[in-house]
Amino acid sequence: MTFSHIFETNLLFELKTDHTSYLFRITRFGHPEHLHYGRILSDAEKEEILARDHGTFGNTILYDTEDDKYCLDNQPLEYGTEGRGDLREPSLIIRTKDGSSTLDLLYVSHTVHKGTIPMKCSLPVSYGAAETLETVYRDPVTGAELKEYYSVYPKEDVITRRCVLTNGGDEEISLRKMMSFSLDTTEKDLVWMTFGGHWANEMNLTEREIRAGTYVHSSRTGFSSSYANPGSILRKKDTNDRAGEAWGINLVYSGNHYTSVSAGPFGFTRIMSGILPENFEQNLAADESFETPEAVLCYTDQGLNDLSDRFHRFVVNHIVRGYYKGRIRPILINSWESFYFDVNEKNLAELAKTAAGLGIELFVLDDGWFKNRNDDHAGLGDYETDARKFPHGLKTVADQIRDLGMMFGIWIEPEAVNPDSDLYRAHPEYAMAEKDRKPVFGRNELHLDLTKKEVREYIKENVCRLIQDLDAEYIKWDMNRQMSVYTGEKAHAYILGLYEILEEITGRFPKLLLESCASGGNRFDLGMLCYSPQAWLSDNTDPIERQRMQRNAGYLYPVSAMGAHASASPNHQTGRVTPLSTRFHTAVFGAFGYELDLNRLSEEEREEIRAEIRFYKKYRAVFQWGRSFRLAKNEFYKIRDGIAVCAVFGSAGDNPTVYAAELEPDAEYRVSTDTEECGVFTGKDLMNGVPCGTLRKGEAFTKKDDSVVFVFEKIFTDKV
Ligand code: GLA
Repeated sequence: MTFSHIFETNLLFELKTDHTSYLFRITRFGHPEHLHYGRILSDAEKEEILARDHGTFGNTILYDTEDDKYCLDNQPLEYGTEGRGDLREPSLIIRTKDGSSTLDLLYVSHTVHKGTIPMKCSLPVSYGAAETLETVYRDPVTGAELKEYYSVYPKEDVITRRCVLTNGGDEEISLRKMMSFSLDTTEKDLVWMTFGGHWANEMNLTEREIRAGTYVHSSRTGFSSSYANPGSILRKKDTNDRAGEAWGINLVYSGNHYTSVSAGPFGFTRIMSGILPENFEQNLAADESFETPEAVLCYTDQGLNDLSDRFHRFVVNHIVRGYYKGRIRPILINSWESFYFDVNEKNLAELAKTAAGLGIELFVLDDGWFKNRNDDHAGLGDYETDARKFPHGLKTVADQIRDLGMMFGIWIEPEAVNPDSDLYRAHPEYAMAEKDRKPVFGRNELHLDLTKKEVREYIKENVCRLIQDLDAEYIKWDMNRQMSVYTGEKAHAYILGLYEILEEITGRFPKLLLESCASGGNRFDLGMLCYSPQAWLSDNTDPIERQRMQRNAGYLYPVSAMGAHASASPNHQTGRVTPLSTRFHTAVFGAFGYELDLNRLSEEEREEIRAEIRFYKKYRAVFQWGRSFRLAKNEFYKIRDGIAVCAVFGSAGDNPTVYAAELEPDAEYRVSTDTEECGVFTGKDLMNGVPCGTLRKGEAFTKKDDSVVFVFEKIFTDKV
């Protein structure tokens, strides 16, 4: 078999994507030496790197007396282990029966495969037209064997890494830490961009200049979490959206995670990411293995917009799978901010009728539909419809909604249980709790213990029956409490249980659209996106707050993945009053829907929504699948097939200059908004920037919360 992206000569490995190159070689003792991850190098540049000699330094430890220059602490490596002189943060820690944590993993063999290698456990992996390098290393004393997998996605300029440790000895070993990847770079002047916050305040960007020492970004909440998204970016100090070098890192994982960047004394910076090692202890008997989640790496020298574009294409092509891959997402109406727990046959029927009349395509019944669920104190764990609210049953409601021409979807929180539920009364042992301790609650609920097979079967059976009984076409899969009892390997086992359940349900209902949610954006990660093509980004639907969140999420995740809804004003979370148009202009740069009682609006407002939906349907391929750019402070821009859409918000100034990207300079573009025709401008003028007021033939913004979405449509002429 021939491979065109993975090359090996004398144990020097080069992994090549369309624009990037990853180089490492096996040293004379058998360790993998990291050489380069960045742009494609000339032969001369490669020679220079290969000639680098690191040597020993001062009181550093010599690896072997045979070579008085070989010191692991002063060597850029592909992983870090303990006991043989590498004193930096290890990426892999074991403990043997006699208390030793020494591990000296030496090259054994390598193989190249087509595609990616499926996991043996239930962790999801990326898929598609990749080539995968497998390298095998072995510790001569314990017999521990490490397999490193590198998958190369040439077109998206992505390289993924993951590894598997197998106990090849006779004695049990205890695995204490195992990162998905680690590498040592010689890059200087790095700034680390991380994304975090808390409930209803997700995706704040923090930028840290890397100096000496270790910088950590991690979650220990049981979720990938709103505190610390697993995705992050290392950029050079002078890199911006349009130019410069940047390295993106993400994990295909939804649980506790850990990423660290450590600038060491000898000019190397060690970067690693994987499962949070704190309190982690996985015993491996002879022949047993442990697999890490997959880490996703991406590099660009063309600025952060380009890095984001590569990540977006990777998510859309190699993470999201199933029926909704690349498929237009329906416009939805969600009942939560319309009625909260107070849903019933009558108000749903009224909302559905209005929604269908406005052009909405999917009706989502949120929380409050099942027995005893009048607030968040009771009912979780049971799946029986509240007969008082729905005397004719939910199937009747779902069928009526379908008769109106919409699809039907429903909210569930299958991983949780309220003590006040039939399930808990029958099976208290299904809940995650500690013997002899009072349970601790989050939103009055406990986790169901997904590490137990009978619990997983209970969830699968009930969720599948619900979908089947209702012919549900959409599920909002929520999880509303943080994890407190399980940490370390137990918290990981929980996530494996979750993936097993999701795999089975999505397998049984291949056309189901799953939207994941965890009190808003607590599971906005690549692991969940393997099952749910879209995820609710935040319970905060205030458009001004959402503009920041969606913009920052956009560094790593595509618009099609971000659930975003236009809701009521004043906003229920912040109390802010905003025009309907601003809420619309913000939410269309997400997996778009409405979340308000449409019947409380005036006839004029409903007419406005009807027009918004007409406009959105016309251009939604651009909104959902166009190439994204961050242009100025808070603008959104997407382009596809000669059509660009650009949102400009009043907070950028009274009359901000509007810039376009990627237009043809000499072509003419018809400019319009969702409500007016603006005129014809050349691509060159639009890319150089035109004041917003000029495009709108008059005033731009009178208020900070005002906004406009422009459409630039190329005029095709017959001229040759
Ligand atoms: C969570 C979700 C909301 C809503 C409620 C229902 O908070 O994030 O969107 O579904 O639960 O209880």
